[in-house]
Amino acid sequence: MTKTFINIGRLIQVRESGTNILRGAMMADVPTIENAWMAVENGLISSYGSMDDFAESPATEIIDLNGRMVCPTFVDSHTHLVFAEDRDEEFVMKIKGMDYQSIAEAGGGILNSARKLQKMSLSELTERASLRLQEAIGSGTGAIEIKSGYGLSMEAEIKMLQVVNQLAQQFPIPIKATFLGAHAFPDKDKEKYMSSLIQEMLPEIYSQQLADYIDCFCEEGYYTVEQMSRILEAGEKFDLRAKVHVNQFNSIGGIEKAIEYNALTVDHLEVLSESEINLLKDSDTIPVALPGCSFFIRIPYTPGRKIIDSGLPLVIASDFNPGSAPSFNLSLANSLAAVNMGLLPEEAFNATTYNAAYALELENEVGSITEGKRANFIVAKAGKNLNSISYNFGVDWIDRVYINGELFSKPTI
Ligand code: NIG
Ligand code: FE
Repeated sequence: MTKTFINIGRLIQVRESGTNILRGAMMADVPTIENAWMAVENGLISSYGSMDDFAESPATEIIDLNGRMVCPTFVDSHTHLVFAEDRDEEFVMKIKGMDYQSIAEAGGGILNSARKLQKMSLSELTERASLRLQEAIGSGTGAIEIKSGYGLSMEAEIKMLQVVNQLAQQFPIPIKATFLGAHAFPDKDKEKYMSSLIQEMLPEIYSQQLADYIDCFCEEGYYTVEQMSRILEAGEKFDLRAKVHVNQFNSIGGIEKAIEYNALTVDHLEVLSESEINLLKDSDTIPVALPGCSFFIRIPYTPGRKIIDSGLPLVIASDFNPGSAPSFNLSLANSLAAVNMGLLPEEAFNATTYNAAYALELENEVGSITEGKRANFIVAKAGKNLNSISYNFGVDWIDRVYINGELFSKPTI
């Protein structure tokens, strides 16, 4: 049966299908219909228009939104949502003055998460990740990417990806899985881990069809450009396109190498040179900023304003993880991008919806109000508009979330 939502005060992010990722000045525009209606059929957006031209059909359930704003759900293109436990004790160490790298050296960091995850069963991990994902959807996320990378052994990396695949079967939103075996080295024998990753993990992941993308943390003290290059090379053989962590603390040549491998996205970019911006301009690789991470570990923000002013597209994601960004809230990411990167609310919104869909190759499914896309949308509280998403930082402006045209309810326990 068709559902028709009427008296939508503003229908936000309405776009024809077949348009491209937004770059430069185009990012400041969010097409809107004032006083609109929208119909949903079989979980997809089937039509929409102005209330002035609305003709009620008998075979439809009418839902009156009394002037509230409707916009598409967010797309979170970079998360580490599967993990065993929070690392709030490291947060306290940080407040006392330790930095990210010293915490890692003192037994915290990625290896801390790996020790805990290796011990936890697949079903317990799935249960914990499910609760987080329910909350994330309730906060407006309607499509998501989830990485492995807290396993760091053949068995535990496969287990993580199986958790992601179980979530993909259980949840009604699109979920993409990324293999991030190259998140850290589990011990001193780096070559041994490199060969396990390339010769054991990748073939197994391929045979079980567990991943869509391959990632690597290319950074001083983690993976060198040369090691990343070997990993991406191997990934290509197993049909895994690259989405990589580069330039978080240092610029060591990761962007150039990722572009060489035709990476879909390069993520982080807190340290970004003029020449790297130029390399991105000559490529199809999409820059992704993670403002939650900059906020939480107090590192510079990715120069998002400069990226847009250079005519590039920009995507913003949460980087949700227990170490450097323990928040999946993309409304907060909008606020941080507006306040700390100088993005307009429209630019931040495009970076977390329409453009973000391209960072997961989901541009035909989500990211805008478009005929044929999934009916994944947010109904705002009364009186809220597009600016509210960035302006009301930390305040819940969301009244309800619909996924595939169905009201999404948060867990009750
Ligand atoms: O994206 N930079 C590397 N990985 C994560 C942090 C992971 C952690 O500290 O557990 C990130 O920020
Ligand atoms: Fe990350």
